[in-house]
Order: sequence, then C-alpha cells, then structure tokens
Amino acid sequence: MGWFLLLAAAAILSSLYVALVAFLSARYPETHWDWSALDWDDIAFPDGFVWGVAAAAHQVEGGCDNNNWSRWENQTAPDGTPRISRGQKAGRACDHWNRYGEDIQLITELGVTSYRFSPAWSKLEPEPGRFDDDAIKHYHDVLDAMKQAGVTPMLTLHHFTHPLWFEDMGGFEKEDNIAHFVRFAERLFAEYRDKIELWCTINEPAVFAAAGWFQGRFPPGKENAQLTAEVLANLMTAHVRVYEAVKAMPGGDNARIGLVKNIFQFDPSRRYHLADWVVARTFDHVFNGAILACLKTGRFRVRVPGQIAVERDLPGASASLDFVGLNYYSHFHLRSQLGRDPWFRFVERPGDIQTDMDYAIYAEGFHRALVQIAELGLPIYVTENGVADARDDRRALYIRRYLYAMSRAIDDGADVRGYYYWSLMDNFEWAEGYDMKFGLYSMDPATLERKLRDGARAYTMVVQASRELD
Ligand code: FCB
Repeated sequence: MGWFLLLAAAAILSSLYVALVAFLSARYPETHWDWSALDWDDIAFPDGFVWGVAAAAHQVEGGCDNNNWSRWENQTAPDGTPRISRGQKAGRACDHWNRYGEDIQLITELGVTSYRFSPAWSKLEPEPGRFDDDAIKHYHDVLDAMKQAGVTPMLTLHHFTHPLWFEDMGGFEKEDNIAHFVRFAERLFAEYRDKIELWCTINEPAVFAAAGWFQGRFPPGKENAQLTAEVLANLMTAHVRVYEAVKAMPGGDNARIGLVKNIFQFDPSRRYHLADWVVARTFDHVFNGAILACLKTGRFRVRVPGQIAVERDLPGASASLDFVGLNYYSHFHLRSQLGRDPWFRFVERPGDIQTDMDYAIYAEGFHRALVQIAELGLPIYVTENGVADARDDRRALYIRRYLYAMSRAIDDGADVRGYYYWSLMDNFEWAEGYDMKFGLYSMDPATLERKLRDGARAYTMVVQASRELD
C-alpha cells in the first residue's frame, strides 16, 4: 500500500512537472527560423522611415575625465586586476569632440539622415548648478553642423556617465539626487529645444543598474541585488520626472521624449528543466518585465523571494513616453546551479554564430523584442542594434538578418519609425575597452583614421533602396 501511494504521488508530481514545463515552453517560445528557406531580401520599410547611426559621449568624444567612468578606468579591483580589459582607458577616444565635422560628413556618406548622440554631462555641468559656456556652445556647433548636413539629431540625456560630483553624492542610488538630473535636463532643453525634436531620457536603465550594482562590471562596482532594483526604481522615477518637467516647459509639447529600453531575452538553457525556467523567468522579471509593466501600469515592482523586494508607485509612468527606444543585440541562455553561489550561469548554445561580444547572432530575438515592446502601443525607434566583429566576417550577415527581422515585425504590426545602427565607428566599449569593433567605420586608436568596412555595405544598400522608394 505504502509503495503504491508513493508511486501514485510520484506519477502525479511528474505529470505536474511536465505540464508546467510544457506551459512555460508554449508561453515563452524561443523562436528559430529556417534561414535557408527564407527570402531575406524581401524587406520593406514604411515611408519616411528614419535611418541613422548611434554613439555616446564617453565612447567617442575624448577628454571625458571628470565622470564616474574616468575614475573607474583608473581603478583596480580588490584583487589588483584593472577594471577595464587590459587596463585600457577611454582617453582621447575617437577625438570626436574635435572631429565632429568630419564624422558628420561620414554619417552623410552612409546615406543615413539621423544621428543619436549624447552630450557629456560632466563637461556641461562641471559643478552642481554651474554650466560651462564653452561646452554649451560646443553642442550648439555640433547641432548646427548636423543641420547643415541634413542630419537630424536624437539626443540621449544619460548614457551611462555622469559627473563625479553626482557620483560622489550617491548618484542614482539616492532618490533625492534625481533633482540634479532634472535640472540638467531642463537646462539642456532650454538651450537646444529649437534644434532637437527627439529626446531620450536614460539609456538602458536595466543594463546600467545590473552592470553597476549586480555584476560589478561598471561603476560603482557593487554586487547587491536589492540595491540593483532600488537603483532601477530611481532611474524609472528620474525618467518620469524629466518627462514631466520638460513637457511643462515652453516648447515641451513639440518635444518627443522616450526612454531607451534594452531587451535581452533570458531563455532557459534546458527547456525541459524547471529550475532553468525559474532562473530565466526571474532574470526576465527584473531586467525586462518590471520596467515594461511599470510603463504600462504606473507601478514599479520587483520581487525575488529572499533577494529583492522593491515597490513604488509611479503614476506618471504610464503617460511618460511619446515613443519608446529599443536597443537589441541578442538573448542569453541560463542554467540553474541550485545550492551554489551564484545559483545560475550563462551558457553558450552549441551551433550558434557568436559575435566578438558574448552575444550570439539571434535576429529572431529582435523580432520577439519588437513584438513585445509594441504592446506598449507607442511609436518605436530602434535606438541601437549592431555587431562587434573585428574580422568583419559576420557583420553583413548580422545586418541582413536583423533588418529582415525588423521588416517582418513591422509587417506583424510593430509601429517602428526608425533604426539607428550601433555604431558609427569603433569606440570605447566600456568594460571591454577598444577591443570590441562595432563600427560601420573602423577607427584606429593610434592614428584616429576612420575607414568604411566592407560589411557596412549591407546596411548602406538597404538604406539606399529604402530611401529611393520614399
Ligand atoms: C549598449 C550600450 C552602448 C554600447 C552597446 C554595444 O548596451 O548602450 O553604449 O556599448 O551596448
């Protein structure tokens, strides 16, 4: 009798397990297309579609030596290893501060008509409340040069870097500090509102929070899950406050303001394994779900039993976007390792085409992300998408597949208005330094010479064809 009950219980439990895994698999499919059976050239984009390239101040300008990253680059980890791969520093970067004229020319030579850039907050506001006239004028000059060249700007207010004084007062760890960011945004808007229509508040809040406070790969180098979610809550609050403050200013109605959301999907390494599902869904909840839900419902909520509990009402969040920016690169596979620290690990999928970053080529995921973000019911700009490929032997494949996926998402109803390739040229890739080559143009850090890569033509050809149909 005892044996019988035990067997019956085991049978019920295993059926439940199987049913749960089947449910999760059906609810969160990991789409894969048979590329050999697809006509990749069958792509089309709406009239007036915006084609552009993206970059960010610290990665290209040079002379950003007064911010959270410049300090980080000069530090070592407690075990003595440098913070940045091989001890590299951003330094003069691509010298874009001085060569912006030439670079805008390079943008026009690609045939694209928009440039997503970020100004350096630390140069503009070197001390709290004191703005630097020369830096303000510099970005006026940059914007004027863009206008003359027929390139429209998209400006990102916060792209991973901020002044040291802001970092020293606790940065986005403290809700009270948000007022400083709002003042910065107001000042920039007052200055440049006649020259810029598209404004992004914050670049990739989840990447910024996770890399800085969970993985310890970005400044301030902490590893604390609860703090990660608190910083995320503050970043969402900052986004909403900037949106509301700018909209209330003269000209605010004409500005189109968005947040840049990076989506990486977290797929279970073993789709039959419940523990892998738990890990993958947990990561998705913190990294993607909490933010998207906050933008829909006006409530930020992250809960991971025993690790994280953050809840905040943000009633303005559900009306804080004129568009949403999507950055998409790839997905990750997660494997559980219960009882170990950490309780998860990232694994590569055999057979995937890898890029130089830990990002496999996965264009189907771009389609998934676009369909998911379209649920917000807003115009979408792809604010970043691109590939690190020093050998330039995967760039064309990447571009063709991802643009196909975007075209298919548009067919499926995603209201995509524009696409910005990351990046115009090779630049300082944060913790990886100059080793990651994302550029359509290569950039030699020694000579600063820029050269169009062969693989970039996959992009310029699509842009050209799409503009001819306009
Ligand atoms: C994104 C960042 C961008 C660049 C790309 C490769 O997460 O926003 O600055 O580093 O990754």
